[in-house]
Amino acid sequence: MCGIVGYIGESQAAPILLDGLAKLEYRGYDSAGIAVYDGEDIRVQKAGGRLKVLSELTHDGATMPGQSGIGHTRWATHGAPSDTNAHPHFNAAGTIAVVHNGIIENYLKLRNYLKGKGYAFVSETDTEVVAHLLDYYDKGDPIEAITKVMHRVEGSYALGILFKEHPGEIYAVRKDSPLIVGHGKDGSLIASDVPAVLRYTRNVYFIQNEEIAVLTKGEIAFYNVYGEPVEKEPTAIDWDINAAEKGGYEHFMLKEMYEQPKTVRDTLSPRVKDGGIVIEELGMTDEEIRAIRKIHIVACGSAYHVGVTGKYVFEGMARIPVEVDLASEFRYRDPILEQDELVVVISQSGETADSLAALREAKKRGVRTLGIVNVVGSSIAREADQVMYTWAGPEIAVATTKAYSAQLIAEYLLSIKFAQARGTVTEKEVAAYLKDLKRLPEQIEMLLGNKERIQHFANRYIAAKDVFFVGRGVDYAISMEGSLKLKEISYIHSEAYAAGELKHGTISLIEEGTLVAAVATQEELYKKTISNIVELSSRGAFVLAVTNDGNTEIEKAADYVIYIPQTNRYFTNSLAIIPLQLFSYYVAVGKGCDVDKPRNLAKSVTVE
Ligand code: F6R
Repeated sequence: MCGIVGYIGESQAAPILLDGLAKLEYRGYDSAGIAVYDGEDIRVQKAGGRLKVLSELTHDGATMPGQSGIGHTRWATHGAPSDTNAHPHFNAAGTIAVVHNGIIENYLKLRNYLKGKGYAFVSETDTEVVAHLLDYYDKGDPIEAITKVMHRVEGSYALGILFKEHPGEIYAVRKDSPLIVGHGKDGSLIASDVPAVLRYTRNVYFIQNEEIAVLTKGEIAFYNVYGEPVEKEPTAIDWDINAAEKGGYEHFMLKEMYEQPKTVRDTLSPRVKDGGIVIEELGMTDEEIRAIRKIHIVACGSAYHVGVTGKYVFEGMARIPVEVDLASEFRYRDPILEQDELVVVISQSGETADSLAALREAKKRGVRTLGIVNVVGSSIAREADQVMYTWAGPEIAVATTKAYSAQLIAEYLLSIKFAQARGTVTEKEVAAYLKDLKRLPEQIEMLLGNKERIQHFANRYIAAKDVFFVGRGVDYAISMEGSLKLKEISYIHSEAYAAGELKHGTISLIEEGTLVAAVATQEELYKKTISNIVELSSRGAFVLAVTNDGNTEIEKAADYVIYIPQTNRYFTNSLAIIPLQLFSYYVAVGKGCDVDKPRNLAKSVTVE
C-alpha cells in the first residue's frame, strides 16, 4: 500500500524523507511526493513513476531545504496514477499539506459538501477532501481542526499533516491504517511502517486507532479524538531491515495471508450502505441488470478459480446462466456473445495479456464489459466499460492470497446485487447474506490463528509426490485454488477434481498414503462427499477433510479434519481457502522453496 514518512528536527528533512520512502518501496507505488517547510512556505515536489525520478528532480533533496516535512509513495486508489493525484495534497492557500494512506469512504459526499462551500478540487483523490476539510475547520488550533475532521470522515486513514502556521510541529493521525512515530538522535519521525525509521531509531510508538501525535524536534505528544492527552510507552524494535520490510513476517506471502481480514473488510465496507449493497461503479440500473441474460466470467489462474466459484454463486443466488472461461481459451474460441450479455474479466494486476485480449475481444463484439481489478489505472481497468476495484493493496508474493480473497468478495457483492435486481432473493435473505459477509474478516482471523496446527500437519507432507484436492459445487472451486497454491510454491504435483469425477479415472492414481484434501462445506452435498472419502480411504488414501463446524460425522471417514466457522454456503470459499493457503505455505517453507518468488513464475503475466 502507500507509504508515509515525516520528519522534524535539526537535519535537512528532504534527504531523510527520500531515504524513508526508499525503505518503503517494497510496498508498491506508482508516484511519490514530498512537502518541506523552508522557513517561509511549504514547498512541494511530486513525480510519477519510480522514487528515483523524485530524487533526481530534487538532487537527492538538496533543492528542497528545510527541517520539517512529509513524504508519500502512492499506490493509486481514487484516480489514476499521475502527478496531480500524487500526494501531498493541499488546501487552496497551500498552507496545509496532507499525505494519506487508506480510503475515505464518504469522500464523494464530503467533496460535494465542500464544493458547496466554495472549495475547488484539483485532483481526483479522496485525500484532497481531508486537506480542504482541515482548512474549513482550521481556526488556529490544529488539534481542534484534526479532531473535527476525524468526526466527519468515514473509512480508514493514516495521515501526516504539515501546517505552515505551526512550523515547529508535524502531525500524525490514524484509524484502521498503520502509523508509527519515533525519536531519532536529532529529530522526530513519522512512518507508515517500521523500515522507514530503523536507520534513525529502534524505539517507536504505535499510534492507536483515532489517536493523534504531535511531533516537535524534541518530543512527541499524543491525544485522543476528543483532544485529550494520552500517555504512551515506546516499543523496542529488534527486527533486521529485511524482516522489517515484511512487517516481521518471514515471507510476503504469509504477511499477505494475514492481511486478508483487512482486505475483505476494505472491499466490502464501502459497498454496504444502509443495510443494502451499493456498487456505484457498476454503472447499471436495476432495469439494465434485469436485461442481462447471461454472464461470461473470463480470467486466468487463481482469478479463474474465483470465476468458477462465481458460476455457483451467481447461478444459485441470482438464477442467471454463467459461463466461465480461461482467458487464453476464450480469446481464440470465437465465443458466442449476444448484446444482452455481460463479460466480467477478473484480474489482480489488470495487465494479464490473455485477460486483456479477452476483454478486447468482447468489446470488439459490442458486449458490455466489467473488470474486477486490483491495480488502479491498469490496462484492464482503463479499457473495461466499468471497473469494480478490489481494495487489496499491492500484492508482492507471486502466489496470490489477499487479492484472491478480495476478488471473491467483489463477486459475492455482484451476485447479491444481481439477485436483488432479478427478484430471486428476499430482503430477509439479503440481510442474512450481509450479516455473514461482515463476519468473514473475524472468522478469517480465527482460522489464521490456527496456523501452528496446520504447520504441524504440513510438516508431515514435505516429501509428498502427489496430492489431490476434491470437492463438489463451490468446494470443487476451492479445491482448484488449493491445488494451484500447493503446486506453484512447493513444486509438489497436485490436481483438483470434482469429487464425483474420481471414479471415472483418477482414483487409479491413489496409492497407500496418498494425501487427498477433501473439501466439504456444502451441507446438501456432505453425504455424497463422505461416500467419496470412503472410496478413497479404502484404496489407501490419507484424507484431510476441510468442513464446517459441527459436521463431526466426517470424522468417521476422514483421517484428519479442519473445521471452518459457519457461514452462508455461497461464502465458504473465503474461509476454506485459508487452511489450504497455510498448508501450501508451510509445505513450501518446510521444503526450503523460495516461497515469494517460485521458480518459472512471474507476478504479472504480460505475454501470452
Ligand atoms: C496464482 C496466481 C496466478 C494469477 C494469474 C492471473 O497464485 O497468482 O494464477 O491469478 O496469473 O493474474 P491476474 O489476476 O493478475 O490477471
